[in-house]
Amino acid sequence: MSPPPLLWRSVDDFTDDDLAWILDRADLHRSGALQHVSGGWGAPAVVGLLFLEPSLRTRVGFTAAAVRLGIGPVSVAEQRQSEISMAESVGHTLRTLSGYCDVIVARVPQLLSGSVVPEDLRCPLLSGGDRGVTGEHPTQALIDLFALRTEFGALEGLRVVVCGDPKMRSVASLLRGLVRLGVGSVALLTTDTLLEDLVLPPQVEGNVRVIGDWTEAADADVVYVAGIPHQAVPLAERDRLRLTPEALSLLSDDCVVTSPLPVIDEIDPSAWSDPRLRAFEHSDDGLFVRMAALEFALTHSSGSPATGGPFPRIQR
Ligand code: CP
Repeated sequence: MSPPPLLWRSVDDFTDDDLAWILDRADLHRSGALQHVSGGWGAPAVVGLLFLEPSLRTRVGFTAAAVRLGIGPVSVAEQRQSEISMAESVGHTLRTLSGYCDVIVARVPQLLSGSVVPEDLRCPLLSGGDRGVTGEHPTQALIDLFALRTEFGALEGLRVVVCGDPKMRSVASLLRGLVRLGVGSVALLTTDTLLEDLVLPPQVEGNVRVIGDWTEAADADVVYVAGIPHQAVPLAERDRLRLTPEALSLLSDDCVVTSPLPVIDEIDPSAWSDPRLRAFEHSDDGLFVRMAALEFALTHSSGSPATGGPFPRIQR
């Protein structure tokens, strides 16, 4: 039997059972059914939070999730360097942190691939978002999938429109997750400029179509508002993708509008009062998903030297 993976960089690094376990576990946390578990760990587990790029939700969300589970968070926000020496490598930083922690969540400005992640990493590593042509944000996708499952009960058959930049790492992960979980259809409301150099895996590409304006989103069950990078598209194209009151008026009354956040101006300020906009409620529930993701990763931890032995395994 092969050893369990120590790195979850892509949604595809999770098996179907893994995804189901995390979403079910998050549900239990959300319902309050696991309150007796929170803070009741048998060992002083530690999560290392290596964030070398800005983050509000992922960094603070995982910190809060750890605290709620009775896990101690250790935060690293920069590589060691000085005026007279270059920065220590991401690989060495990860390796060092892994010796002190039972699990790491990392956001780094490069692909968290084998060339960056050291082979002798001592604890599991969850990506909090990486960069590159195939960069992903798998825990954000878990949060998005959880949100849709909470809203609709199931994902099967849902018509999802993703609006904005399809090259965003959260979109890359979400598309993989949506196809894996059997949604009915996925459409990208975007522009030719933003489609340039888009790389999608074949199983996703075959299940995604491109639409050109909001009138084609009228029958969507879900609208996912991704970012639209400034300067990357002409202003007129950018304006066409923004969720304005006019665009909202084309959507059905039952449509759920969500976003991984942050939203800068992708949603018109006057649209936020519409009850179909659920992005902040979904962001709130991200706490439960991150709690479940930490527990999931810890089931693969054999315990760091610091904790001196196996982490108590969670019933899966
Ligand atoms: N959604 C998300 O990843 O937000 P942050 O960049 O603030 O973590």
